Amino acid sequence: MKIVIAIDGYSGTGKSSTAKQVAKRLGYTYIDSGAMYRAVTYFFLVSNVDFKNERIVEENLKSCTITFDGVSVLLNGENVDHEIRTMEVNQHVSEVSALPKVRSKLVEQQRKMGEEKGVVMDGRDIGTIVFPDAELKVFMTADMDIRAERRRMELSKKGIDESAEVIKANLKQRDSIDSTRADSPLKKAVDAKEIDTSHLTLDQQIDKIVIMAESIIYAS
Ligand code: DC
Repeated sequence: MKIVIAIDGYSGTGKSSTAKQVAKRLGYTYIDSGAMYRAVTYFFLVSNVDFKNERIVEENLKSCTITFDGVSVLLNGENVDHEIRTMEVNQHVSEVSALPKVRSKLVEQQRKMGEEKGVVMDGRDIGTIVFPDAELKVFMTADMDIRAERRRMELSKKGIDESAEVIKANLKQRDSIDSTRADSPLKKAVDAKEIDTSHLTLDQQIDKIVIMAESIIYAS
């Protein structure tokens, strides 16, 4: 039997890197839902969309198509992997992803992607809203200093140098917006398994989730 694995948690807890490898080990499809919100944010920024104007947001969403080619996120057919990871997108993505029109469009698309099961999706509302019936739900946490350092190294590998202080301020601001927004705020699903990744290596995180997944897959 194939299952749906929902991985939620704060930014910089290692969700995406873990989810990607868990999918690879199980032969499942990995979907980075945060990349979809980032792609919409990038589109709004380059198109100078006024996020505060609901009518303009709705109108612009019609000309914004987000797809995956199995590895990368495509915005209107164009690979925007690099463009969606900048500090400018980081600074606006929480505001854009709090917009109900944006969420309803992306959640509908995410649910379609999970219809056949065999998917690992990471995000903020995957276990609570997108797949409330997911067979395995994981909620990842980590200490703020560790999260900021991980994000700094991730940006640095992409050639973007940013201070730990600036990154920490951005993470705190995003945590606050993501967990207090009215529409599907970030919160742990009651039936999610919590994993604190502060002192775990990436391989340890992956192993933990693969073991949990296999025990569900083989028990059925
Ligand atoms: O996982 P990430 O840092 O790439 O996500 C970027 C932003 O997208 C995050 O600050 C909140 C938003 N997001 C969301 O609201 N719901 C999701 N399912 C995934 C991400």
